Amino acid sequence: MQRYFEVENLFLYYKTLKGIVKAVDGVSFHLNKGEAMALIGESGCGKSSLSRAILRLLPRNVHRYEGVVRLNGDNIMEYNDEKFRKEVRWVKISYVPQAAMNALNPVIKIGDQIAEPLILHKGVSKNEALEKAAKLLNIVNIPSDFINRYPFELSGGMRQRVAIAMALVADPEIVIMDEPTSALDVLTQANILNEIKDIRKKVNLTIIYITHDISVSSEIADKVAVMYAGEIVEFNDAEHFFKKPQHPYSKLLLYSVPTLRTDREPIYIKGSPPSLINPPTGCRFKDRCPYRFDKCEKSPPKVDMDGGFAKCWLLEKR
Ligand SMILES: Nc1ncnc2c1ncn2[C@@H]1O[C@H](COP(=O)(O)OP(=O)(O)OP(=O)(O)O)[C@@H](O)[C@H]1O
Ligand code: SF4
Ligand SMILES: [Mg+2]
Repeated sequence: MQRYFEVENLFLYYKTLKGIVKAVDGVSFHLNKGEAMALIGESGCGKSSLSRAILRLLPRNVHRYEGVVRLNGDNIMEYNDEKFRKEVRWVKISYVPQAAMNALNPVIKIGDQIAEPLILHKGVSKNEALEKAAKLLNIVNIPSDFINRYPFELSGGMRQRVAIAMALVADPEIVIMDEPTSALDVLTQANILNEIKDIRKKVNLTIIYITHDISVSSEIADKVAVMYAGEIVEFNDAEHFFKKPQHPYSKLLLYSVPTLRTDREPIYIKGSPPSLINPPTGCRFKDRCPYRFDKCEKSPPKVDMDGGFAKCWLLEKR
């Protein structure tokens, strides 16, 4: 069966003076149309690098960039840069970058910034693009006459909504949102999350939602991918994941969230993630894993489960 969106063995390594940083190291996952996937993991595990690899937004110091990214069966990694820019980035797959609200151009009016991708990538006239920008501002709960304002005239939450409107302006099929609410207060976070849920229903959008907030991911996700030290260690249906996570790291991540309904004390994951320059051989989580045993010195197998997988020796089928 042809999958809607599929990432297979994607690699993105950076070259630095200290060595090669293996930020995305053989990542695979797949999504159906209209699904939302939460991509979770600690700071520095490679989440933003994975989104940059999918969108081909690469820095100069790339050392290795390869893999397969299929959209509707078409491997978009084989497109040349011009075709990718014209047909994929912003048009089919768009992006709300990390800290997007600080990335708006301070001297360009909001409306012009939202309209720009439409003019650049779809050749739409300026008037038509501004009309669409005004409509999108409404969808993200900002009055449409704000198209004539400058970013400094808006609150942080409003600027973040503008970044979301910008990502939606060219009617993309998939939007990657990199920590879209993490810099905001809890109430604004909840409002924006609700708006994202509404938009999803209206336009059947597929979303990759990057966050390190487990409770946010439980609100939005149909699928969950847990990233650790450049690898996806568990990819699972959200329902299964939140009921019965399979990988020891996933379990500890879930147990680290305080709950009101039980007396269970939150568990803190000891130690810190390994360097991506010389990640440990064998299982990369072994130095922090309470279940570690002799086999963990070797790289764990990717064990298939219903609709997903986890990489751990404990799950090896006997
Ligand atoms: N251009 C680059 N050159 C060298 N190393 C880089 C580059 N960009 C990112 N890195 C490193 O790659 C690793 C993954 O970074 P990335 O930004 O993808 O992590 P992240 O999971 O998004 O973290 P956060 O949650 O803090 O946003 C980190 O060790 C980071 O320092
Ligand atoms: S492979 Fe071993 S060290 Fe790694 S998560 Fe599984 S039990 Fe823990
Ligand atoms: Mg990041």
